[in-house]
Amino acid sequence: MFQHILVLFAIVFINIEYSSSSDITKTFFTELYVVPFPSLFGSDADGSFTRPYATLQQALDHIEHDYNCRDASSPQKTTIYLYPTYYHAAPVHFRKIHSHTRLTTMNIKDTVYYRKYLSPNHPHRLLSKASISGGIPVTGWTSIGNNVYQATVTTSAFINQLFVNNQRIPRTRTPVDPSTYLQYDAPLSDPNQARFGFHYADGQFNSSWPLTDAMVVVYHSWTTSHHYIDKLDANRTILFTNPSDRPIGAMVAQGQRRFHVENMCISPSPNTFCFISATKTVYLATDGSYDPNQSEIIAPINETVMSLVGDDTINSIEDVIIDNIAIQYSAWNIDRTQQADAQAASFLTYAALFIANATSIIMSNIEISHTGSYGVWIKEGTSNINLLNSLVTDTGAGGIRIGQMIAPVPTPTTSVQILSNEVSYGGNVFPSGVGIISHRATDVTIVDNLIHHHRYTGISVGWQWGYASSYTSNVLVQGNYIYNIGQHILCDQGGIYTLGIQPGTIIHGNVIKNVFSYAMYMWGIYLDEGTSDIVVSNNVVYNTGWASLFQHYGANNTIINNVFARASLSPPPHPGDPSTDGDIHIGLTENHTSFTFQHNIVYDTFLNGNHSAYKSDQGAIAFFNSNLYYNPYNTTLLFGKQQVSFTDWQKTGQENNSLIADPLFTGDVNQCDFFTVQLNSPAAQIGFKNLTKLSKWTPGCDMDVDQEPIKQFYRW
Ligand SMILES: *[C@@H]1O[C@H](CO)[C@@H](O)[C@H](O)[C@H]1NC(C)=O
Ligand SMILES: *[C@@H]1O[C@H](CO)[C@@H](O)[C@H](O)[C@H]1NC(C)=O
Ligand SMILES: *[C@@H]1O[C@H](CO)[C@@H](O)[C@H](O)[C@H]1NC(C)=O
Ligand SMILES: *[C@@H]1O[C@H](CO)[C@@H](O)[C@H](O)[C@H]1NC(C)=O
Ligand SMILES: *[C@@H]1O[C@H](CO)[C@@H](O)[C@H](O)[C@H]1NC(C)=O
Ligand SMILES: *[C@@H]1O[C@H](CO)[C@@H](O)[C@H](O)[C@H]1NC(C)=O
Ligand SMILES: *[C@@H]1O[C@H](CO)[C@@H](O)[C@H](O)[C@H]1NC(C)=O
Ligand SMILES: *[C@@H]1O[C@H](CO)[C@@H](O)[C@H](O)[C@H]1NC(C)=O
Ligand SMILES: *[C@@H]1O[C@H](CO)[C@@H](O)[C@H](O)[C@H]1NC(C)=O
Ligand SMILES: *[C@@H]1O[C@H](CO)[C@@H](O)[C@H](O)[C@H]1NC(C)=O
Ligand SMILES: *[C@@H]1O[C@H](CO)[C@@H](O)[C@H](O)[C@H]1NC(C)=O
Repeated sequence: MFQHILVLFAIVFINIEYSSSSDITKTFFTELYVVPFPSLFGSDADGSFTRPYATLQQALDHIEHDYNCRDASSPQKTTIYLYPTYYHAAPVHFRKIHSHTRLTTMNIKDTVYYRKYLSPNHPHRLLSKASISGGIPVTGWTSIGNNVYQATVTTSAFINQLFVNNQRIPRTRTPVDPSTYLQYDAPLSDPNQARFGFHYADGQFNSSWPLTDAMVVVYHSWTTSHHYIDKLDANRTILFTNPSDRPIGAMVAQGQRRFHVENMCISPSPNTFCFISATKTVYLATDGSYDPNQSEIIAPINETVMSLVGDDTINSIEDVIIDNIAIQYSAWNIDRTQQADAQAASFLTYAALFIANATSIIMSNIEISHTGSYGVWIKEGTSNINLLNSLVTDTGAGGIRIGQMIAPVPTPTTSVQILSNEVSYGGNVFPSGVGIISHRATDVTIVDNLIHHHRYTGISVGWQWGYASSYTSNVLVQGNYIYNIGQHILCDQGGIYTLGIQPGTIIHGNVIKNVFSYAMYMWGIYLDEGTSDIVVSNNVVYNTGWASLFQHYGANNTIINNVFARASLSPPPHPGDPSTDGDIHIGLTENHTSFTFQHNIVYDTFLNGNHSAYKSDQGAIAFFNSNLYYNPYNTTLLFGKQQVSFTDWQKTGQENNSLIADPLFTGDVNQCDFFTVQLNSPAAQIGFKNLTKLSKWTPGCDMDVDQEPIKQFYRW
């Protein structure tokens, strides 16, 4: 044993003095190891730092200690190697002083070496990569019958998420079926009071139920609001401790008076849990297939798991590499009086991985999962931030958030690259979370990502409604495959969604499939309020509930060489819902150029009668040239404000050189094969350039719409 320890000392702390030929300053390279069972290696009570550290924090303290001791002219680079297991309840905060550091999982050889020191009954589960966790294990479950177990926790945190063997377990929900809702009876009549409650229907609440820890989730249009209960009042009135953004019930068709209740601790159904804060007791109902004492059960308690935040924009943290690690189990919390209701769940102030006042950061091959809010937020004062080849999945809100919301922007966010990641299964707590959202930032690259299974928009760019300065420019959204967006829950969203004037923003070569809202407003590419100066080119958009492309006022956009197919698939699901949309739609047109639209293919699949290929609410100034339109089912396509036939439309002079003809796609449109065109396609005549299939693209329509009721919450 003693000999082993000597070997260990040698690899734990290596300073290599290095001089480059052109430079007399020495760079020190330090390697630190973190192994969370340090007692095996004796004590370092003398402060000699000569054994592997037990915690990542100790390794960061080592860097800080070195920094304070050394000659400032000698740069120091440190690599921290983590043993591949959980580091629970261990949030870490990298500051400027921790610059020039790489954090990674140790290699297999070192893992095997350290593993020899473990006793057979040790609790340190071997993982494929080290997991920095904001959670704690919940243990000591006792059965209370019917597959229900209880355990008490000692943390002060409110337990509102639970993960069993790497799976998210939802809180008890009323109604139980996650695809159904309760409907309240009527909104409150006073518009301010209506933000704090509603008139419920008989049987929906009862003051003898445990309401203190329960949460009411109300569906508006593009948001849900989340409420704690203050009291039940006369005339079936429920009042909340915190308000919604708009009066509950204001968006009649989108909201349909829907709500559900979470964490009401009465007879939990299988695979749900609830928490009573007064007794700190978690109740878990299993499906009988596992023993909680034999399972890995984790409850998040920390909202931020890792942060990289410099002191300010001048003294930023720089040159950090994080690779091959996982960042997991972040908490969410809403203050009992806080308004928890905003587009894109933007009221959240934290993320599992939070970055600000930082530069030259590379995050590669990391996993961020099981979060309560967004996975990553690259916020103000950042430049040259790179996130690539990573997985962001099972998030409470959205996946990746960039930039800040306030204007004018005090500390810019610029040069952010989000490349080749998978961003999936979002909105598990806050459905309005977006796959990838860039608020106000410049020179952002969102390329080659797989973005799927979100309950609101896939990619959102810009945060300025209308024509005021947007602080958003040069955003490249290219080659992303975005599918199964919306999932029939919220309304008013898009596969790709933009806001405001954005010179240099390009949306190119993306594939968008399956965008569906609960009732209305669901578009493939959604150029919302004031979107201007952007180019939309070479995208394929298909299977959208409403139009493939919608511009809700804006100027000078260029729509070129796209395929827009299989639009307006959503049948009006409820009495009183508006009828379906067209293929291309401009709303709220103004007295300037809305867009130019050329070399596009519009493949309409509407059955029977007439359908709008292009709809504009008022007379729009838009220039259509050299497009190909087709419907294979003898449906007459209609164009423009007056909804006239193609021939009459061309006579208006608003469209030249276009054709109605079968584009002759290489695959079967009804099977959602890729939309390349055959060699003899008439698309050549309108100057259409064949598109390239994305390597990540998958064939098939698989909308899951007609087959079975949608099981959206937690049952992906
Ligand atoms: C689980 O373990 C605890 C001890 O930690 C024990 O008291 C309890 O009975 C066990 N529960 C079951 C269901 O086996
Ligand atoms: C509330 O629940 C209690 C106990 O279950 C029941 O006796 C009572 O009738 C309920 N009240 C209402 C208004 O449903
Ligand atoms: C009681 O609530 C109903 C809606 O459930 C509402 O129509 C009615 O006006 C309310 N009555 C009073 C007295 O507020
Ligand atoms: C993690 O959360 C716990 C419980 O809320 C809290 O006591 C602790 O200070 C947090 N740790 C950090 C580093 O924020
Ligand atoms: C970043 O630095 C700016 C000042 O340069 C400061 O206002 C801001 O609060 C800092 N951000 C964080 C998250 O500390
Ligand atoms: C659109 O282009 C015109 C002509 O170049 C220009 O005058 C106008 O300011 C532009 N509008 C916007 C919102 O960029
Ligand atoms: C265009 O509309 C704006 C806003 O309605 C108005 O202020 C402006 O005068 C109009 N311009 C022209 C040329 O009609
Ligand atoms: C289709 O539109 C044409 C003219 O736009 C109109 O005459 C005809 O009645 C419409 N047919 C249907 C089924 O709506
Ligand atoms: C179509 O051609 C006519 C005649 O050359 C021209 O006046 C009109 O502006 C053109 N329309 C578009 C949308 O380019
Ligand atoms: C399409 O309409 C034309 C003219 O009304 C008719 O001759 C033709 O049979 C129809 N084709 C189909 C497939 O319904
Ligand atoms: C378009 O690409 C497809 C797939 O590579 C190919 O089969 C087809 O011939 C191409 N069409 C043209 C016009 O080049």
